[in-house]
Amino acid sequence: MRDVAGKVAFITGAASGMGLGMARAFSEAGMKVMMADIDAKRLPAAVAELKSRGADVEAHLCDITVEDQVFAAAAATVKRFGKVNVLCNNAGVSVGGLSEELSQKDWDWVIAVNQTAVVYALRAFLPLIKANAETGHVMSTSSMAGLVNAGPGWGAYNASKHAVVGMMEVLYSELKDTPIGVSVLCPGAVSTNILEAAKHRPGHFGSGDGRPISLNPIDETLAKGLDPDVVGDLVLDAIQENQFYIFTDPGMEKQIDRLFDRLKLGFAWARNNDHLKAAKQAGLVWKAK
Ligand SMILES: NC(=O)c1ccc[n+]([C@@H]2O[C@H](COP(=O)([O-])OP(=O)(O)OC[C@H]3O[C@@H](n4cnc5c(N)ncnc54)[C@H](O)[C@@H]3O)[C@@H](O)[C@H]2O)c1
Repeated sequence: MRDVAGKVAFITGAASGMGLGMARAFSEAGMKVMMADIDAKRLPAAVAELKSRGADVEAHLCDITVEDQVFAAAAATVKRFGKVNVLCNNAGVSVGGLSEELSQKDWDWVIAVNQTAVVYALRAFLPLIKANAETGHVMSTSSMAGLVNAGPGWGAYNASKHAVVGMMEVLYSELKDTPIGVSVLCPGAVSTNILEAAKHRPGHFGSGDGRPISLNPIDETLAKGLDPDVVGDLVLDAIQENQFYIFTDPGMEKQIDRLFDRLKLGFAWARNNDHLKAAKQAGLVWKAK
């Protein structure tokens, strides 16, 4: 989507961090932005900052874990701006704990914000993006944890972020012959307010008993992370260049190499497995292309 001026974007998690970085980059490029977030304090401040610079932006307070609120946000975007071209599923949360120790509500909350809300938004926004017969783009924020193992204690986050990569891969194949592009953002460490995620936990997902976002201390790593405004600029570049995978830390490619090595070991093990060999000899093995 080369020509972004005048196009309308909807961004979740736009009150803070990378979502705010995207809103800044998009509005500077002449886009109109509906900035959605659950944070009733930060959202008006973020929108006021952009408006003071002449940006055509609006605040939409909502909880994306509630399906009706996501559909209402889509209707509000079209009502305010007349159309929608770009969907950025960016809001995300985490809570740390060993897989069996996290409560069901911990799992439910992380999956609801990071994964199910993306499903709601695809169903609410994609028909509207298709309907306006212009170029469009769907961008979802996953993580490097959507491709590799983030380590012990990251089970719910890892699962939800892998799901986002999977959904965007499929969406890419579904939209490849249309004027709508698809991207998935897989950041490394970015210096945002994500350590405060528990503050945005809706009551129906329980209190979380003050669990931090991860078992391992990541405060220092995040403090040294990339400026979220740079990520906003990267996302704008990716939308304009129709780039699918958006990485913020090229140095993390070695984590992908290590994952591939482990996958290859799995295939080597399968190739030498006696049961599979016997099944192959009996003509029972399906040949993948
Ligand atoms: N910070 C990092 O290092 C990092 C790395 C990889 C991926 N990510 C991902 O980046 C995305 C953006 O996070 P960030 O790091 O900018 O954090 P952030 O906390 O600064 O921003 C996230 C925003 O999402 C909002 N939000 C949370 N729950 C919501 C809900 N139910 N409804 C609506 N809004 C809600 C929060 O209020 C907050 O403003 C997330 O998906 C996160 O998982 C972050």
